[in-house]
Amino acid sequence: MTPKTPVIEAANLTVSIPEGPHYFFQPTYKLDILIDVSIAVSPGEIVCVVGESGSGKTTFGRALLGLMRPSGGKIRLDGTALADFSRKSFRKVRQQAALLFQDPASSFNPRQRIGTMIAEPRHIAGAGSTRQADIAALALQAGLQPDLLTRFPHALSGGQARRAAVARALSVIPRLIIADEPTAGLDVSVQGGVLNLFLDIRDRHDTAFLLITHNLAVARHVSDRIVIMYLGRVVESGPTAEIFRAPRHPYTKALLDSEPVPDPKHRRAEPPVIGEVPSLMARPAGCEFHQRCRHVLERCRTEAPEDTQLGDGHSVRCHFPLQETKAVAAMAAG
Ligand SMILES: Nc1ncnc2c1ncn2[C@@H]1O[C@H](COP(=O)(O)OP(=O)(O)O)[C@@H](O)[C@H]1O
Ligand SMILES: [Mg+2]
Repeated sequence: MTPKTPVIEAANLTVSIPEGPHYFFQPTYKLDILIDVSIAVSPGEIVCVVGESGSGKTTFGRALLGLMRPSGGKIRLDGTALADFSRKSFRKVRQQAALLFQDPASSFNPRQRIGTMIAEPRHIAGAGSTRQADIAALALQAGLQPDLLTRFPHALSGGQARRAAVARALSVIPRLIIADEPTAGLDVSVQGGVLNLFLDIRDRHDTAFLLITHNLAVARHVSDRIVIMYLGRVVESGPTAEIFRAPRHPYTKALLDSEPVPDPKHRRAEPPVIGEVPSLMARPAGCEFHQRCRHVLERCRTEAPEDTQLGDGHSVRCHFPLQETKAVAAMAAG
């Protein structure tokens, strides 16, 4: 089987924003929010981007659509690189992709009724029925009661707004759906409904999904591959089953260990991640995770690790990936 060409591919994507007081119209420094992020999503594939708050997940999703201008790297759409990061280039991406915002209500027109909003993509594309009954069926599919279709956005709860946004994103099935925390703030039962809807769409339309979440249970449930981000960099990525079976980066392991455990009597082998995420304005030297790493060795404090391929599409940015750590530590102990 020949691998499918990714719908979207980011290669070494970087987003820096000017920061600090401006002297003679020049900002004093740049803040690197995203550094060298490389991710590909193929048709029918669900890739999850996972990381703590502030790791750059939302910025990545927005940069792919040009809502935040990348300062370096390449974006390829169906194997063809965008000529540049101009508005015109991103128009092609936006024709193929739908973005589900982290805060869906912020993207709604306050004066437009929910039903009109959901029907609008069909109207613009001139594809799909905009009959009331068909829009109601679409709403129901996303778990939204059709009697809400005549309301205005302010009259919806957070959960209803999220479902309305899902219905709009599915109004015309795009080739790629970028969903930023699509289940945040939803009841667990509704969360499952939204995720199953994604799986169903993927199966029926071969749609590619880039799913942004800080919820590992969500990632485990739906994704084929996981990308772990830390301070704007990818620190580990690989097939979902592989990441859960044998995480290689100590950060990934710590995230997995800090997942809520349903059984209160269950005792963890290791406590969750130590300390807080450092500021982007003061990136640590060496490996940027070293201050929080329980396996830190001298080299980690001074030398930044490269992204290392482990085979089978699994890669890790760590000098001493887990499994090796024990051997190295034993050697160090003599
Ligand atoms: N426009 C901006 N100006 C300044 N800082 C920003 C901007 N957008 C994002 N950031 C910073 O970049 C980091 C990553 O943000 P974000 O992409 O929202 O992370 P996540 O979605 O993983 O929580 C955060 O520290 C955030 O404060
Ligand atoms: Mg976010």
